[in-house]
Amino acid sequence: MASNNNIVEQIQNSIDIADIIGERVKLRKSSRGYMGLCPFHNEHTPSFHVYTDTQSYYCFACHEAGNVFSFLMKLDGLTFPEALEILAERAGVALKQYTRDKNSRTLYDVMNIAAEFFTKCLLSSQGTAARAYMKRRNMGASDVGKFSLGYAPNSWDALTNYLRKAGITDKMILDAGLALENSRGIYDRFRGRLIFPVKDVAGRVIAFGGRVIDGDGAKYINSPESEIYSKRRNLYLLNDARKFIRERRRSILVEGYMDALRLHKAGFGEAVASLGTSLTGEQAELLSSYAERCYICYDGDTAGQNATIRGMYILQTHGLDVHVVNLPDGQDPDDFLTANSPEKFEQALRDARPLVVQHIEVLRPKLSDPMTRKQTLNELFSGLSELSHDEVLQYKAQLSEATLLPPSELEKKILHDTKELHTDNSKAPVKAYDDLPEAAFCAMILRSRECRLKVKPEDIYTLLKSNTAQQTASAILDDNPDTLPVMWLTTGDTEKTALIARGEEFCRSISGDKWQKIYGELMTRAVNERMNEIRAKMTTNSATLSELQELCKLQKQKDMYIV
Ligand code: CTP
Ligand code: MN
Repeated sequence: MASNNNIVEQIQNSIDIADIIGERVKLRKSSRGYMGLCPFHNEHTPSFHVYTDTQSYYCFACHEAGNVFSFLMKLDGLTFPEALEILAERAGVALKQYTRDKNSRTLYDVMNIAAEFFTKCLLSSQGTAARAYMKRRNMGASDVGKFSLGYAPNSWDALTNYLRKAGITDKMILDAGLALENSRGIYDRFRGRLIFPVKDVAGRVIAFGGRVIDGDGAKYINSPESEIYSKRRNLYLLNDARKFIRERRRSILVEGYMDALRLHKAGFGEAVASLGTSLTGEQAELLSSYAERCYICYDGDTAGQNATIRGMYILQTHGLDVHVVNLPDGQDPDDFLTANSPEKFEQALRDARPLVVQHIEVLRPKLSDPMTRKQTLNELFSGLSELSHDEVLQYKAQLSEATLLPPSELEKKILHDTKELHTDNSKAPVKAYDDLPEAAFCAMILRSRECRLKVKPEDIYTLLKSNTAQQTASAILDDNPDTLPVMWLTTGDTEKTALIARGEEFCRSISGDKWQKIYGELMTRAVNERMNEIRAKMTTNSATLSELQELCKLQKQKDMYIV
């Protein structure tokens, strides 16, 4: 693997910023490079300039500026390591050491060859029955290309033989999860199935789902986890959906391949599917980097199930604002759109319930039955206790009405049971750095100019206690923040990059006004510390008059930040 130094240089040498930006922004030639409509704010006349000589961009209207790394980070809500990975892939630079065969092919190449094979089969005479099945499911020829669909022939070795002929070793075929092995050798995993490729956010095929079209066997089979595929960290169609999620400020999360696909066809390009797993924090973090609001649209019969509700709380505590869409009796989105217009689905989205309200409604019958009431209250509050005061207090009226607890008692219970600042305790802190608010403070000033403007240089030393955080924050305020992560990476300053990564992760777990919460937390800490210092002096009668005045001032400041 190349050293960090080389990687950033290699990427910058082999990628043109205009190509990357040109994929997202319609650019036309200008004297020093290109110009177009700024993707960071709404405008009708172009103020956004891309400079090829310095490989940078600048918007004269909103003053966003940076290089190719910061462009992807800001536009796609990526962290620096994520942007680096995508650009490294584009530049053909080996960032991660993937297993390669003797022809230097990776599992990505193998998956890609397989996807092409499946599509070829779907379009050939072998695919007749599969195409007929597609037609029955309201899919046509245009969907094959759009969703890279395919067909795995009903054969034990069609794909395996094809890959072998392409020079792929049996070991790679097995590692890719495309074949299974028995005493007689290896054989195709996917047989006689309509194939849905799963891509990562960089657009690389990393897995397949296969739906049976006739005959028996499981309705779906899926690729196993592999070196390149983690179910927990991916969502079906996210690569296509993220641009819509960002634009529309919402995602729609469904259960099935067919549901996501059907929604895209009906104009809901912001739909993604969880891949038959329980919902994960990682998936929430993926989605929340594009938009906070997430509509969960699971089959009517599962949306109220305990495991599903628990999954929704996981999403909510990882930075999503979860709303639950309820479709009529047992229908999934695909069924619903077969019977109803897209407008009706839009209506269902408008009628979606915030997670807390959904939970109340699901439990309502059991809450009003004296036999089950007590146990159900515990069940409800065990969910609510995952959330912050603010998140729950919004629903005080509904809660009081459904639980029959008087408002004052309810409020006391909420303040007692729920969290003050909503943090995710389930994750072990990253080695070097575990002061999350300090890390989050650094991550936010790195990412947002608006936040940087709110910070006075002396704040760094009053608000931040750890040396690493102080150094990181002052570098951000002094240097060009867009190029800093690259510099840290090149100089191997992993302490700072780890701190930023940890901070970004923590930011995603906070809902609402992140800056206010983090700044408020640090401010509260600093104020408390200083107040205790002065009070200690007072007990020994050694406090000066100015310290006593400071104490009054601090008390006022504290009242301002602690609501
Ligand atoms: N699933 C799976 N394995 C199964 C059944 C389901 O992996 N044996 C996953 C698939 O991702 C599937 C999702 O769970 O898309 C939802 O399952 P289900 O509701 O049963 O199927 P649908 O998506 O509705 O598929 P279809 O409309 O084709 O019946
Ligand atoms: Mn279905």
